Amino acid sequence: MALHDRWVQERKHEHYYKLAKKLEYRSRASFKLMQIDDRFSIFREGDSVVDLGASPGGWLQVAKGRVGDRGKVVGVDLRYIRPIEGVATIIGDITEDRTMKELLDTVGGKVDVVLSDMAPNIGGSYSTDHARSVDLCMHAVAVCDMVLKKEGRMVVKVFMGDMMDSLVKELEPRFRSVKIHSPPASRDASSEVYVISKGFLASRNVRPKEIKEEEKRPEFTVKGGTF
Ligand SMILES: C[S@@+](CC[C@H](N)C(=O)[O-])C[C@H]1O[C@@H](n2cnc3c(N)ncnc32)[C@H](O)[C@@H]1O
Repeated sequence: MALHDRWVQERKHEHYYKLAKKLEYRSRASFKLMQIDDRFSIFREGDSVVDLGASPGGWLQVAKGRVGDRGKVVGVDLRYIRPIEGVATIIGDITEDRTMKELLDTVGGKVDVVLSDMAPNIGGSYSTDHARSVDLCMHAVAVCDMVLKKEGRMVVKVFMGDMMDSLVKELEPRFRSVKIHSPPASRDASSEVYVISKGFLASRNVRPKEIKEEEKRPEFTVKGGTF
């Protein structure tokens, strides 16, 4: 990255960091979710929300704020999440059956929104990190199959790479629309993108819907632009 670009990146990083501190959000990631919601209208007042990979709780704060007092928010993470008023939390690994069961018990029905900001421990080769990230997304899809209401919405983070297609192929038959987006608060150099899926079809027998050739690719938006 050129020196000037790095400088711009650092300023942006610092900007969201300071803003998060000032507004008492637990993470800079909060701004990514706010920007996604502002653009794609994910939350409605009174919604119930599941947030996977929720620690330290920045997304939980945003979700709770946007669904309001009538809404219900449940966060899951491997790590402890400091309590947030009106938010239920579960410590556990969502890839394990017992965590999934605890989540189903806590939710006690269907939800309007499933979020996942889960990230694997970075450290392997990029392709390994990418594969792990896609695998976590597949678990988030499994959560949707179990708890998401018809017409529900899903936002999931993924590290870009050659397995993106397999993730999109899992999502397209399940939702009316699937879009890939990078919110302004994401670092320009970041390999992360968010897949925003709306209009859950909730068919038990998930069948590929008829997709016309020109509609096969998801719309790809980066930093507010579309291509
Ligand atoms: C980027 S952080 C999430 C930040 C959060 N959205 C916020 O705004 O505060 C990613 C989280 O995913 C969690 N995670 C990774 N794998 C997980 C798994 N299998 N089950 C549950 N949580 C997981 C990590 O522990 C980590 O806290």
